[in-house]
Amino acid sequence: MTVHGHSAKSLVDFARGEISREVFVNEEIYQEELERVFTRGWLYVGHTSQIKKPGDYFVSCMGEESVILTRDPAGKVHVFLNTCRHRGMKVCRYDEGHTVHFVCPYHGWSYATDGRLVGVPQAEKAYRPPLDRSQWALIEVAQIAQYRGTVWATWDHSAPALLDYLGEAKLALDLALGAWDGSDEETELLGSVQKWLIPANWKFVAENFSGDGLHVVSHRSVDLVGIGPTDGEGRRDDPGKLMMTTSPQWGHGLTFSYLPPDPNRTDYAASPAASQYFKQCWKKRIERMGDRAGLQAVVGTIFPNLSFHGQQPRTLLVAHPRGVAKTEMWRVYFADRNAPEEVKQFLRHYYIRYSGPAGMTEQDDMENWNYATAASRGSIARRYPYNYKAGLGAEETNEMVPGVVTNHPISLTTEQNPRNFYKRWAEFMDAKSWRDLKPSQVDDLSEHRR
Ligand code: FES
Ligand SMILES: [Fe+2]
Repeated sequence: MTVHGHSAKSLVDFARGEISREVFVNEEIYQEELERVFTRGWLYVGHTSQIKKPGDYFVSCMGEESVILTRDPAGKVHVFLNTCRHRGMKVCRYDEGHTVHFVCPYHGWSYATDGRLVGVPQAEKAYRPPLDRSQWALIEVAQIAQYRGTVWATWDHSAPALLDYLGEAKLALDLALGAWDGSDEETELLGSVQKWLIPANWKFVAENFSGDGLHVVSHRSVDLVGIGPTDGEGRRDDPGKLMMTTSPQWGHGLTFSYLPPDPNRTDYAASPAASQYFKQCWKKRIERMGDRAGLQAVVGTIFPNLSFHGQQPRTLLVAHPRGVAKTEMWRVYFADRNAPEEVKQFLRHYYIRYSGPAGMTEQDDMENWNYATAASRGSIARRYPYNYKAGLGAEETNEMVPGVVTNHPISLTTEQNPRNFYKRWAEFMDAKSWRDLKPSQVDDLSEHRR
């Protein structure tokens, strides 16, 4: 990709920690992102608890494009482009539901939940020779994969397997998506998706959740209000010592935490039922996991646009691009499937006062992203790069977690994860195909090590 004759790499000065504002405000770059990032990367499209039975569907998005996540009569999961093969009409205009066929409202073509074109009105009169329906099925993604209840898809046949692509983030997802007692029990979504639009570039969202400890200053008011699940205390219970962790080859940014396991923890003290439930969970978690029970995945971004909170709250967020300065936020909340209903309801209330359009913490974040986008679009503003120098040279390792790590107590003062996110972004933007997108070398970060 070139913008004004420059490659994406030239806009991202990884070694110096400077990134051109064009990356966030340039329309040409945005269009190129849709092509080069969103048709090649693995994208989160939904959760298996949204399509439990054959015929269940959930209308999701990959980049700007609508897709249908569904389960066919044989139980196989599919992801189809939500467009009719006849004249392009959206074949499914609902958010989610259950159906036998997707019937296009325009001229009535109908498709089975395995994508086959099964009905064409007036077909016998209209087509000579007869229409070969097998050539006009719904368009299906190149690859689909599931991981601990999450469903992912990519349009690229040559993309590596999802498990390879997740790299160091696999551990974070294991911790974030697993049952709190450390067992193989499932988690499930609480209700459906909160969706809302913000006037910000999607990468502000992705980089923030990849690991931006320095922005906690903007959450001061929430901390003072004390929205946490233990009365009068900050936004969340003590997560322990934080480790800012980069997946150097794949561009994911993760924040792990560690607190020595203690079966008498007093988390969620504002609710006796939740407090009791999590105490039991901790006990079992310690039995199962030993010292590693205290390891948690607090927050992170899987490149490009799936972010998660894995501890308090527990949520997934997709930052869908809708324009260079517009992002559609889709947030879901989840909890242990076997948790008592009273505990789930307590968690739901806590989660939505933290995150989502009405969540106090997310409101702080959105103010920042929205104004930063607006204030960076001008002719003068875009001449000056952003500063991502914090923590340059502080990268280390930690035996508890994989990847490149900035350790406690300076973990919250580094911008290593956003830096690495944009390094990977530039690789995607400049590469002609996955052949050129083989993971960058771990040693690439050694230039920053002190
Ligand atoms: S556009 Fe779907 S049937 Fe014509
Ligand atoms: Fe925040």
